[in-house]
Amino acid sequence: MFLTRDEEAVLGGQKGYAAQRAMELLVAIGTVYDAERLLPISSAHLSGVSYKTIGEGGLEFLTEMASDAKVAVKTTLNPAGMDLARWRDMNVSERFAERQLEIIERYSRMGVETICTCTPYLAGNLPREGDTVAWAESSALSYINSIVGARTNREGGPGALAASILGKTPAYGMHFDSNRMPTVVVEAEIEGGILDYTLLGQVVGKKVANGVPYFRNIRPNLDEAKTLAAAMAASGAVAMFHIEGVTPEAKDVDLRGLERLRVGREDLVDARNSLSTGTDPDLIALGCPHLSETEIREIASMLKGKSKKREIDIWFCTSKSVVRRCSREIAVLERFGRVLCDTCMVVSPVEEHHSCTATNSAKACNYLPTLCSQKVVCASVVELMGMIT
Ligand code: F3S
Repeated sequence: MFLTRDEEAVLGGQKGYAAQRAMELLVAIGTVYDAERLLPISSAHLSGVSYKTIGEGGLEFLTEMASDAKVAVKTTLNPAGMDLARWRDMNVSERFAERQLEIIERYSRMGVETICTCTPYLAGNLPREGDTVAWAESSALSYINSIVGARTNREGGPGALAASILGKTPAYGMHFDSNRMPTVVVEAEIEGGILDYTLLGQVVGKKVANGVPYFRNIRPNLDEAKTLAAAMAASGAVAMFHIEGVTPEAKDVDLRGLERLRVGREDLVDARNSLSTGTDPDLIALGCPHLSETEIREIASMLKGKSKKREIDIWFCTSKSVVRRCSREIAVLERFGRVLCDTCMVVSPVEEHHSCTATNSAKACNYLPTLCSQKVVCASVVELMGMIT
């Protein structure tokens, strides 16, 4: 990979230890993917935040990097293993909390904004169409590639951190038009709503793996698009999709000769049945990806004037930024469960207190059994709120 004289100097250690390590990492990634050079980025979003997922090794790595690194571009964080303020309400242990707060401190020392959310685009980190960025968090990066028209690869945590420190990323993959072209046309016959979109994503992600689906006949709102992106990134490895009439690049594509995939009601029912492994939840968890202001208002209006009829833990996962914008609705939700910021049902140690989680997210349904030893109930938000009122 070609490096400028300045980049060579960074690699040689002239700009400090952390910058050297970051450059070594980007050169290694660039070499694997045959990148010819580095591209400047305008923002980064980092995964690798929860103590549950990165452990002592991750904390050690961050401590080393924080010794002399500062990020060069706007950088935000994915959810941590707990609500950074209300962690005691989640029954998180003192030891876990201490380590988690150390991780956040290391990121903060490097200049990272410590708002921890998987919807950074709703919390002040929103790229513009055509921007080159380096984002981890599969649901968010797929959303910004596909709905916003920004450009990022499916970064891992260390690669995104290295890119944020150097303000650069290797030029390969989704940074090139040719890799952003559709590989399969999806004719979707669905009614709409979060559950339909998350199940559509589940079906399509499984079928196309890391392909680039082009959807016809759908017009999702923001929340439906974010759950579609999340589900396809979890059941497959989709980093980019097109929606006719929505995706900025969808008007410039050639669909001739592409495979066609039809997804109808029966496929959604099959997907829901195969995701649902439990019947008796002890936790209802909403907000995968993190709840938007609109979703919080909708849930609050569903619950307003009702009382909780069943004793069950309920988590509404969102970001501090969203909470600040809808305090009245948050008060309604708090009568039924906990509004948790900075975290989610998958990256927190949910398995320490729960064994069966009900959720309306196919992404969560994919990960809860493997990462959190949970049985899962997949249901719509109306059905879930119906269970308790
Ligand atoms: Fe976000 Fe956690 Fe789901 S990071 S997309 S809420 S698994």
